[in-house]
Amino acid sequence: MNQPQSSINRRSFLSKTAAGAGAGLVLGAPNILRAAEPGAADTIHVALVGFGKQGEVLFNCLKNIPGLHFQAVCDISPFNLKWGMGQVRVHQRSSAKGYADIDEMLATEKGLDAVVVATPDFWHSPHTVKCLEAGLNVYCEKMMSNTIDGARAMVHAMEKSGKLCQIGHQRRSNPRYRYVLDQLINGQKICGQIVNINGQWNRSLGSSQDIGGEKLHASTIVPTDVLNKYGFKDMHQFRNWRTYRDLSGGPISDLGAHQIDIFSWFLGVAPKSVYASGGNDYFKEREHFDNVMCIFEYDTPQGNVRAFYQVLTTTSAGGGFWESFMGTEATIKISEIASSSAIYREDGAPKWNHLVQKGYLINKPAPPKPPPSADAVQAYESKPPEGFDLPGGFNKPAHQPHLENFFAAVRGKAKLNCDARHAFESEAPIYWVNPSALSKQPIIFTPEHLSV
Ligand SMILES: NC(=O)c1ccc[n+]([C@@H]2O[C@H](COP(=O)([O-])OP(=O)(O)OC[C@H]3O[C@@H](n4cnc5c(N)ncnc54)[C@H](O)[C@@H]3O)[C@@H](O)[C@H]2O)c1
Repeated sequence: MNQPQSSINRRSFLSKTAAGAGAGLVLGAPNILRAAEPGAADTIHVALVGFGKQGEVLFNCLKNIPGLHFQAVCDISPFNLKWGMGQVRVHQRSSAKGYADIDEMLATEKGLDAVVVATPDFWHSPHTVKCLEAGLNVYCEKMMSNTIDGARAMVHAMEKSGKLCQIGHQRRSNPRYRYVLDQLINGQKICGQIVNINGQWNRSLGSSQDIGGEKLHASTIVPTDVLNKYGFKDMHQFRNWRTYRDLSGGPISDLGAHQIDIFSWFLGVAPKSVYASGGNDYFKEREHFDNVMCIFEYDTPQGNVRAFYQVLTTTSAGGGFWESFMGTEATIKISEIASSSAIYREDGAPKWNHLVQKGYLINKPAPPKPPPSADAVQAYESKPPEGFDLPGGFNKPAHQPHLENFFAAVRGKAKLNCDARHAFESEAPIYWVNPSALSKQPIIFTPEHLSV
């Protein structure tokens, strides 16, 4: 969905967003942006639920946000709980209370304002719903849930409670993504008509191996009765929950969710169908496909758009992870990794000298011409597109702006960039990728597939 042409350029964009990506500048339907009531207390009392790898990444960003007091940490792993409490103590020089069980935490802790949930996907919905029902604001990691009904329950709980619920699609608050959408695609319309999208997350075999559940140091082992109580069969499942069907949606939801979210966000519409193919091409014993390719089709006000997405766990070919928006006049390739981003103007499209002069883009030096080769087929080739770069100044720690946006909203000073309803709108089609690949059939979406 194209937005009215904006008159602000990159410099004023940066100064407006510098105060927090949460200033509500992001484009989207107003009904999916929510703000907390103003007048929240100065210090925000926070509980951290799930202090594994991502819990620690989020905590390292949270430490940079002023006015937060970490009151409680909850984790079923005694090792991770101790580690998390230690991190809090070092940071704020006072202890947080530790809990293995979220119900006990919610029953005991008084005065909490917000909870940050970074547990495995199958716990997101129960944890988020409990916290919202307890009157707390929630930041919950993506994917919303391992089931679409779990995700629906989160939207219902958010709306019933009137509390804030931000989902951890952190690109929604990333200044580079917001600049590309607001200024280049919708503002200056540099792509012309976007007709195709390509996206991928390709991960090398070496990075995709199981992290093992045997031969562990005794201190890191979670007792079996505790594992079973919280839905894990054994330590292998506990450590590799992403590969199990009942605990996660597999690579397409774990990795693909970040990027398929961008397709719908940038286009402003939901897809009308998906057709997917997946297989256990290398990791034969895994419950989830190790490689998935899929095509979404969108009906936008500008015309039909086809979006190809692949998540491969057996190769890092093609440069890792990025999304590429291919229009009649330009292509914008964007990624959380700045060096994977690039902009190309098509031969014959209007020149961009005025955009370079005004600071929207910078020229990229043309690569050296290759020497003439015997197999040259210039007669059939398109003239190579001209390369440009984004201006600098957009790099921030990946998760920080999204967390800043959440806490600004808790203070009543911003609207959420990705509340649960907004996240559901873009996540819903992802739940249908595995079923399409399993049945080897396209799925044409009806309101039942995509509605809350
Ligand atoms: N936004 C991103 O870029 C990003 C990146 C990585 C992970 N994630 C998300 O973060 C979440 C956590 O991923 P991770 O890699 O840290 O996994 P992890 O296995 O390293 O950590 C999960 C933690 O949750 C704890 N836990 C499990 N069940 C619990 C329960 N019932 N109650 C309390 N604690 C419980 C575990 O003991 C562990 O400490 C996932 O949803 C994942 O998709 C998001």
